[in-house]
Amino acid sequence: MPAFAAMFAQPAGSPIRELFPYLSQPGMISLAGGYPSPSLFDAEGLALAATQAMSSGPQALQYCATEGLPALREALAAQTRERGMQASAEQLLVTTGSQQAFDLLVRVLIEPGDTVLVEVPAYPATLQALRLAQARILPVPMDEHGLQTDALAELLRDLPLAQRPKLLYTVPNFSNPRGTLLAAQRREALVQLASSHGFWVVEDDPYGELCFDAADGSTPPMPTALRTLGDRLGAAVNPVVYLSSLSKTVAPALRVGWMLADGELLRRCTIAKQTVDLCTSPLAQMVSACYLQSGRYPATVQRARAEYQRRMQALVQGIASQLDGLVHCTPPAGGMFVWATFAQSIDPQALFDAAVSRQVLYVPGKAFFPESAQVHAMRLSFAAPEVPQIEQAVQRLAQAVAQVRR
Ligand SMILES: Cc1ncc(COP(=O)(O)O)c(C=O)c1O
Repeated sequence: MPAFAAMFAQPAGSPIRELFPYLSQPGMISLAGGYPSPSLFDAEGLALAATQAMSSGPQALQYCATEGLPALREALAAQTRERGMQASAEQLLVTTGSQQAFDLLVRVLIEPGDTVLVEVPAYPATLQALRLAQARILPVPMDEHGLQTDALAELLRDLPLAQRPKLLYTVPNFSNPRGTLLAAQRREALVQLASSHGFWVVEDDPYGELCFDAADGSTPPMPTALRTLGDRLGAAVNPVVYLSSLSKTVAPALRVGWMLADGELLRRCTIAKQTVDLCTSPLAQMVSACYLQSGRYPATVQRARAEYQRRMQALVQGIASQLDGLVHCTPPAGGMFVWATFAQSIDPQALFDAAVSRQVLYVPGKAFFPESAQVHAMRLSFAAPEVPQIEQAVQRLAQAVAQVRR
């Protein structure tokens, strides 16, 4: 048979999806996937929305415009405005998950050898999309306040002209995997750098609404979106592309995400989408639109915020009491992930094997780096398991750590 295309001759699959076989092992507790909690799905509200969608006429069962159903584009634009951004339905493309939005951007912007800046540790599917596009991935380091803009400025200063970046990828709100919230001054600095060096910024924001309350019970204000700072530049083109999704707050099965971008870029992404899937499932779009119009969304998000905060605290407290001095983590202010680092004396592979044999699963830190290296860290997701399972998972993890230190 003819050969596979070069990039698929020896392709590496997603390091997270490769953990799936372990999930089916009986008794396994998973802190691995970025899955929302099944107990938080508003199944009743979605069933009502589905009934309404089906009774809305043939529209939900027909193909629709690649840009998306007008009712959903309106509803998503309204939601984006609530996050402080200027957004109209015309500036917004409905995508099949926000994963597709990034893939479209890569298709439209990146040629083999192009430089792309990525905050590291990074969301693995971003790295995978860039590798398949044969991009030159330049890692930008992070600390507990997100992407380090000083390091970025230095990196940009030293880059030869031929390696000027086209794009920078970041998750400013409760990043995956580090859980960090990008500091306000760094947001300003990042958008200024994008403007002066002429690269696009992809602001990937599936977790921004899942922010936790402060100790006094108040809800801290979210820092300004990069997209809004991009608008304030007053330039002809906003260099920031905003991506978000209903996956983490409503249901990933809808596969509904969206992109808010400059007109010329959006038009090209729309053309790219035509050949990928013609349009995002109109049925899923109609269900999503009916759900957002039903007024149930704010309470659903509120429930998720409170429950994820409880689960995060159980995880972080468990680590502090059972793995003190051996595993370190900073409690995130929102999202679904804790990034836990461990002592250099612990072998990452040995720990992973010991954890799996004790029926607890996590994502090894190396999955989040562009180069293969020993990474003494792991991503622990507290979103899907209930509090008692989290407590048991930490006990098992502590036993695994004790075993490999022996
Ligand atoms: C940072 C980030 N971006 C994008 C996605 C993809 O989400 P979607 O389900 O909207 O495709 C995820 C999913 O885990 C994610 O963590």
